[in-house]
Amino acid sequence: MKTIAIAGATGAVGMQMLECLKERNINVHIKLLASARSKGKVIDGHIVEELTEESFKDVDYVLGACENDVTKRWMPWAKKAGCIVVDNSSAFRLDEDTPLVVPEINAEDISKNNGVIANPNCSTIIALVACDALKKEFGIKRMIVTTMQAVSGAGVKGIHDLETQIIDPNAPKEAFPYQIAYNLIPQIGDFDDLGITKEEWKMQNEGRKIWHDQDLLVNCTCVRVPVLRSHSESITLECEKEVDVQRAREVLKDALGVQLKDDPEHLIYPMPLSTTNQDDVFVGRIRKDVSDPTGKTLSLFCCGDQIRKGAATNAVQILEKLLERN
Ligand SMILES: NC(=O)c1ccc[n+]([C@@H]2O[C@H](COP(=O)([O-])OP(=O)(O)OC[C@H]3O[C@@H](n4cnc5c(N)ncnc54)[C@H](OP(=O)(O)O)[C@@H]3O)[C@@H](O)[C@H]2O)c1
Repeated sequence: MKTIAIAGATGAVGMQMLECLKERNINVHIKLLASARSKGKVIDGHIVEELTEESFKDVDYVLGACENDVTKRWMPWAKKAGCIVVDNSSAFRLDEDTPLVVPEINAEDISKNNGVIANPNCSTIIALVACDALKKEFGIKRMIVTTMQAVSGAGVKGIHDLETQIIDPNAPKEAFPYQIAYNLIPQIGDFDDLGITKEEWKMQNEGRKIWHDQDLLVNCTCVRVPVLRSHSESITLECEKEVDVQRAREVLKDALGVQLKDDPEHLIYPMPLSTTNQDDVFVGRIRKDVSDPTGKTLSLFCCGDQIRKGAATNAVQILEKLLERN
């Protein structure tokens, strides 16, 4: 039986990974790793071990769920031990020899790995799953995206900030620079000289790699909102061909990993609460952009649980593909 280590097992993504392995009946030996702070904690009957240089010796695959700096530190140890790593941090996503994979879109890239396969950014996964079938149908040249990102996207500290500030708005801030309860913050990540944040660049840079389309253009604004879980995105697509709303609905109905929730007359559309703790990406509010006289622009709204499909589920799906092959 193969041994899988979850590095960062006590975090928002790591704990979800453990749940995903269990609910998908993946029959493996599981090892939970985290910082020294968590050593000895018991999660679902597994004792958490401190992640050290020796941790990977008996491990076949690693599911990485740590921040970039921590991941960069342990990655050489995992590689030296011969493990294959599916990593959630952004540390290796754009490396040439690291496939960046959304299994519904580019599962074939997994085989090009050199020991590491990266999970894309959570908002990027959700947007690309929502738009992949539309890209095939109409050809997407440019995306204009506004993300509304849940606090759990910033890990357990983000959840804690919202939960404590809802009760006491003056509670200490751990994850965000401003109060997030009863507020929203139009900044995720550091700004560059152009006034664009690192998080905002990910949609274009990672989108180009996953879709194998270096011409893709993305204008993205990332906003943190006081929602516990499930990211929402307002997306406008400038396409090569004229768009058709009915045809868009048809192709999305059959798209892998997508659930169409688009019946405005009956108030049916995706929302974070109704998409929380589910693996699919939900798409609705599909409409033609009437401000474009060429008829080639389509707008939509989508939601996806970013701890599941935006992180843990996507990683476990990649692991399943690896296990099938070996
Ligand atoms: N949250 C999301 O929705 C989401 C979505 C996509 C990608 N990601 C990415 O996934 C990664 C994990 O995110 P998260 O939200 O789960 O973060 P988190 O809740 O803050 O969890 C971080 C994990 O890293 C562990 N850790 C910290 N320092 C460590 C050390 N020195 N050695 C070993 N383990 C250490 C923590 O263990 P302790 O509990 O012992 O400190 C914890 O298990 C990040 O790279 C994040 O960008 C997150």
